[in-house]
Amino acid sequence: MQTQEDKLKKVISHAKEYGFVFPSSEIYDGLSAAYDYGQLGSELKNNIKQYWWSAMTRMHQNIVGIDASIFMHPTTWKASGHVDAFNDPLIDNKDSKKRYRADVLLEDYIKKQEEKIKKEIDKAKGKFGDSFEEEKFRATNPNVLRSQEKINAVEDRMKAALEASDLVALKALIEELEIADPETGSRNWTDVRQFNLMFKTELGAVSGDAGIIYLRPETAQGIFVNFLNVQKSGRMKLPFGIAQIGKAFRNEIIARQFIFRMREFEQMEMQFFVKPGTEMEWYAYWKEARMKWHQALGIGEDHYKFHDHLKLAHYANGACDIEFNFPMGFKELEGIHSRTDFDLKSHEEFSGKKLRYFDPETNESFIPYVVETSVGLDRMFLAVLSSALEEEKLEDGSERTVLRSHPALAPVKVAVLPLVKKDGLPEKAKEIVDLLKHDFNLQFDDKDAIGRRYRRQDAIGTPYCITIDNETLLDNMVTIRERDSMQQERVAIQDLHGIIEKKVSLRHLLQAN
Ligand code: GAP
Repeated sequence: MQTQEDKLKKVISHAKEYGFVFPSSEIYDGLSAAYDYGQLGSELKNNIKQYWWSAMTRMHQNIVGIDASIFMHPTTWKASGHVDAFNDPLIDNKDSKKRYRADVLLEDYIKKQEEKIKKEIDKAKGKFGDSFEEEKFRATNPNVLRSQEKINAVEDRMKAALEASDLVALKALIEELEIADPETGSRNWTDVRQFNLMFKTELGAVSGDAGIIYLRPETAQGIFVNFLNVQKSGRMKLPFGIAQIGKAFRNEIIARQFIFRMREFEQMEMQFFVKPGTEMEWYAYWKEARMKWHQALGIGEDHYKFHDHLKLAHYANGACDIEFNFPMGFKELEGIHSRTDFDLKSHEEFSGKKLRYFDPETNESFIPYVVETSVGLDRMFLAVLSSALEEEKLEDGSERTVLRSHPALAPVKVAVLPLVKKDGLPEKAKEIVDLLKHDFNLQFDDKDAIGRRYRRQDAIGTPYCITIDNETLLDNMVTIRERDSMQQERVAIQDLHGIIEKKVSLRHLLQAN
């Protein structure tokens, strides 16, 4: 059976082989947690962006988009809380010199206990068969109860220590549980320290602390500081939203798992400004709308689940993640948060400028509440790529690798393939390229046998291949082959545009939202 690790490895090697994703600066052995999108990857990424941008701005008359700068006034990050609270608790192993997040070491310990419980349950299931009652077993089996008690106790102590920023208590817990360096087994730990995740740099010729600015760790603050600019210049009325796609930077300590967790990544965020008191209605609306947006891609409902946050940040009154079944299991893809008036209020305090909405109906001024949707573009990319990649066994016993991504997201929409490189077929094929190139990203390919060319297109997810043969010169008909069914059909050249458009247009995806 294929393990999670095998699955992820396959995705990584396919992404590299076909020009989707490369390790950054690979000729210098790469840079950890940084990746480059190649010729097909950037097309796929642009298509995802376009899907999100259209769904937000075109499908909602009251949402507009902006593009704020990455550098922002440093006080922005004081006001947002990132300077003081955007930290990870770190611990170093003195022998191996490896650095870990203290909370992750504890979470791994909890996971081990959970695995023990699962083993007990599987064993009992095998023994009792159909008459097995899991709930009853969990409530009565002494081994399970013991492990569960340990989990609860560690969780409680870890949460309390994290909330109180009690780093001594975190270290004490790690030592008490005899947690060892996962790579070397050493238990020789340093103290736990707080490590701020923001990247710092210096502005122009200003030296010292006065010149320090940050690379933004989220795009959202660019929206908050422009709230009034957009509201006034766009004469926006509540409720309204501001959307943005852009780079964000975090000095992640544990940055593994390919493009899932990077130090430089892209976010697609939307802040929806609402009247206080209506935020829970809008929170419910956006939960549903965002789930629909994901599911319209046809990946399968079982690939998604909500994870409601039981413990909320002090300023939030609702928060959840949409989790996706990545090759590494279910993990966060998108966050949806009801953030009250926390951000605007704080920017008002720190800037001394009023950030209020004047309601002409009630003649009142107030700070709006905000519901935020925030999805990682790179995580979306990984979700699309990993779920689409399939090794398919064909009826004749052969195999093909096919990328079954939604046709509207496919990096190449059409491949134009002259059957042979002579008899005027390439010239005819180029006429077809000229006919279609303004509307569809396409590839012209006249190398190798036609079967191999089909396989290459399957592997990059091209919805249609068009083959030009000698008959084409006589009747202006071509063979069009569909990626998923591999069905071939003879159609008139003049009908090609309509057939392709119907399949690959973003319209259908947006209509399914
Ligand atoms: N403004 C809210 C915010 O930034 P977040 O949960 O920290 O919330 C939102 O991030 C989304 O950004 C996540 O759901 C994830 O998809 C993406 N993301 C966060 N950190 C990331 C990283 N290091 N690499 C790739 N994507 C990341």
